[in-house]
Amino acid sequence: MHYIRLLRPAKILTSTGRLVISILFTITTDLGDSFLCPEDGSIDLIVAVEDPAAGPVRSGAAVLRGAKTCRYKWKTGMRVLDANFTLAPGLKKELVNCRFSIYPVQQRPRKPSAPLGALHVGDVLPWTVDMNPILRMGVIMPATFEFVDGVCATVSVRTLGLRMHHGAGERGESDESLNLQFEEDIGESIARHIWDAGVVTSAYLADASSSPESIREVLPIERDSFNVLELGSGVGILGITIATILPAAAVAQGRRLKNSRVLLTDLEEAEERARSNIAKAEATLATSHTEGANVTIEYENLDWDEGLEGRFGPLVSATPWDLIVLSDCTYNVDSLPALVGTLSALHTLKEHHRDQENKGPAKSSVLLATKPRHSSEEALFELLDDQSWTYRVVKEIPLPKIGEEDEVVQVYLLQKGALGT
Ligand SMILES: C[S@@+](CC[C@H](N)C(=O)[O-])C[C@H]1O[C@@H](n2cnc3c(N)ncnc32)[C@H](O)[C@@H]1O
Repeated sequence: MHYIRLLRPAKILTSTGRLVISILFTITTDLGDSFLCPEDGSIDLIVAVEDPAAGPVRSGAAVLRGAKTCRYKWKTGMRVLDANFTLAPGLKKELVNCRFSIYPVQQRPRKPSAPLGALHVGDVLPWTVDMNPILRMGVIMPATFEFVDGVCATVSVRTLGLRMHHGAGERGESDESLNLQFEEDIGESIARHIWDAGVVTSAYLADASSSPESIREVLPIERDSFNVLELGSGVGILGITIATILPAAAVAQGRRLKNSRVLLTDLEEAEERARSNIAKAEATLATSHTEGANVTIEYENLDWDEGLEGRFGPLVSATPWDLIVLSDCTYNVDSLPALVGTLSALHTLKEHHRDQENKGPAKSSVLLATKPRHSSEEALFELLDDQSWTYRVVKEIPLPKIGEEDEVVQVYLLQKGALGT
């Protein structure tokens, strides 16, 4: 999968006496280790501008001179593209309030009502990809960003379109389109970007959430509360998607949730982005049809070097977690001992909770998603064996990549402790 990324916040520059918006962007993999290299020479892109309040900008309040959408070609061998838009004559820089979206022409949103920069998450799943020759080549993640009073935001936004099926509830069966928005930093950062395994696993869980058989294997909800802890959450794509689909996943399993929690954790550097994405999701969910379930989404810092020693913050410590989830956190072999040690310390914490409640032995379950990048990552399995974790692949999702070999996202279920508890 490839991502459209701004190289720096867009700028308003003066060129031959006119004000021009300069948008410098690239298209790379999640790791940024290779540029998009289309097999048949080029890919057509659209850069579109809208008034955030009123949709496509209207001539009366036009920000730009000329067209509101421009086509560009990303050609094999390119590393950067500079898109330029001339401001309407006489418009002052500080009055520029608009939103830009950059997306591949052939991947434009299928529904006119969907936001321009949205990627429908079904478009990364094999059962959709196999029927569509464009998607079979590989997906490019669009990017959206805003100017407010002439200044470009330092974050860009990824919009994931989810189609939620609500089972027989108070209002009967229904389908709903939800657009979850995730801010990520413009510029280099590991914790403040989204990654392939998070996107693909979120897509898979959203798709599976209406199927009792598929969802039971990965999110087995056996009570009227279900608490999920995410490690290395980054911008929060996986945990926030899980919080969104939990009510539907519960209904598919014949349950109605009460007071469930999803807690995102990461290093301190991830906190600001994660918290603002939680706020965005809460605003989206507040207007959606979520079967009245109360799923709280929270954030707390958790460094695995501390987790390994059993040192957890108050939110992590307070709950015997039903499920731990993580995506794209196992590519750095140096951090694997601390990560696996943290998983084991969380199991010990769960044992303490069960002892205190006289509930008998504990079983811990972990959903771990990875896009294997290097054979050295297999060190994970030795560490899991050493600490008595069992593991099996529950899903393998092929991920085509334009101009390069296909990749795969693997979703593992790890377990430790007493069976049948
Ligand atoms: C490749 S990113 C994946 C982010 C996110 N899970 C996703 O799929 O988009 C790896 C994440 O692990 C986090 N991480 C790395 N070392 C960590 C540590 N020692 N303790 C906690 N988090 C860590 C990083 O901050 C980063 O957010």
